[in-house]
Parts: sequence; structure tokens; C-alpha cells
Amino acid sequence: MRAMKKIVILISGRGSNMQAIVRAAQAEKWPCKIAAVISNRADAEGLRFAAEHGIPTDVVISKDFPSREAFDAALHVAIDRFSPDLVVLAGFMRILTPLFVEHYAGRMLNIHPSLLPSFPGLATHSQALAAGVKVHGATVHFVTAELDHGPIVAQAAVPVLSNDDEHALAERVLTQEHVIYPRAVRWFVEGRLSIDNGLVRIAEDSPHIANT
Ligand code: GAR
Repeated sequence: MRAMKKIVILISGRGSNMQAIVRAAQAEKWPCKIAAVISNRADAEGLRFAAEHGIPTDVVISKDFPSREAFDAALHVAIDRFSPDLVVLAGFMRILTPLFVEHYAGRMLNIHPSLLPSFPGLATHSQALAAGVKVHGATVHFVTAELDHGPIVAQAAVPVLSNDDEHALAERVLTQEHVIYPRAVRWFVEGRLSIDNGLVRIAEDSPHIANT
């Protein structure tokens, strides 16, 4: 039998993507355990949902640390207490140091609210509206040291409508985030993702694949 994979999810706020992943993992009985939800803000709304679902929570407050390196070192310790196979950034609004990213290379996913490589960084929906693009969307990718640039696992596109404001567009994208992020995490849990020359390969969902 394949070992249960352990997942630690990092959030900064609402945590709706985290909730979508937790719900899908339970409903579809993924062979994994959501080992912890960790936030860099004590007031992150998503912490309550995690606690109500019996998931251990922890808070590592960025403001309490004198430098990015010191915060990342503390976060690293908090995460590794749970020995995760996968770290999932779900609306985790922190830029991570290269050392931290390197430690989780190939086992840390992020969701970004744009069709990367378009619109990295913040305020992606207003960037999209200002650019006048007709399609926008979201991307799940492996995290690398370059912000919002890692190997792409999944994307979803939505139309940009002529009367859209940032809020309407964000809502349309978020609905798709809740579809692609659980799917991508499930692929990881099932051992179907590999990175080949900077590109993600997704193995067929075949009962004939050997359990390694
Ligand atoms: C999501 O739209 C996510 O894509 C975005 O923050 C939101 C978090 O919502 N992430 C980033 O902008 C990362 N740079 P959630 O807390 O409800 O999942």
C-alpha cells in the first residue's frame, strides 16, 4: 500500500482555496492527511475552518521577526514539525527566501490568480483589466525562487466581460481556482506529477501504473 502523503497548507486570510482542498480530500477520500494549516496572521479567517475540521493549526507572525530570513527559518521549523510531503500555498501572501524555497523544491505548490506568465505579483485582476485582455484566469505552479514563475501544473481561463470590475473578475477566477487547485493537489498526492526540464508532466490515471 502506498503511504499516506502528508500536506501542510499555508494561508494568510480567508482560506477558501484551503477549504476547497480539504473538502475535496475528504469527499474523494484522497490517500493523504492534511497535517496542519499554518498562517502568518493570527486573524486569518481560514484558521477557524481548519480547527472546526480537526486540523492542527499554527501561527507564525511575520511581524514578530526582524528579517525575512528569521521569519522563514521559524516557518520552516513550524512546517517541518509535521514532516510534510507537500506544502500548499493557498493565498499565502509572503515572498519567500531562496533558501526556504530550495528546501521545499519539487514539493511546494502555489496558486496565482492570473494566467502566468502574464501578470505576476499583486493586483492581478486590475492588471488584467488595465491590459484589456479578453481572457484571464488562474495558475497552479511549483514554487521556485523566481516569484510566480515555477513549472505550471494547471491553469483555468475565464472570459473578461466588458462591464467587469476587479471584484466581478476576481469572483469568476476564484470559482475556477477552487476547481483546479484541488485537482492539482490530488495529482501530486497520487504521485502523478513530475518535472522534466522545467515542464510538468502529468502521468495518466491508470490502474496499471505500479505503486512505487
Ligand atoms: C486567491 O485568489 C489566490 O489565488 C490569491 O489570493 C487569493 C486567496 O484567497 N493568491 C495570491 O495572490 C498569491 N500571490 P483564499 O484565501 O480565499 O484562498
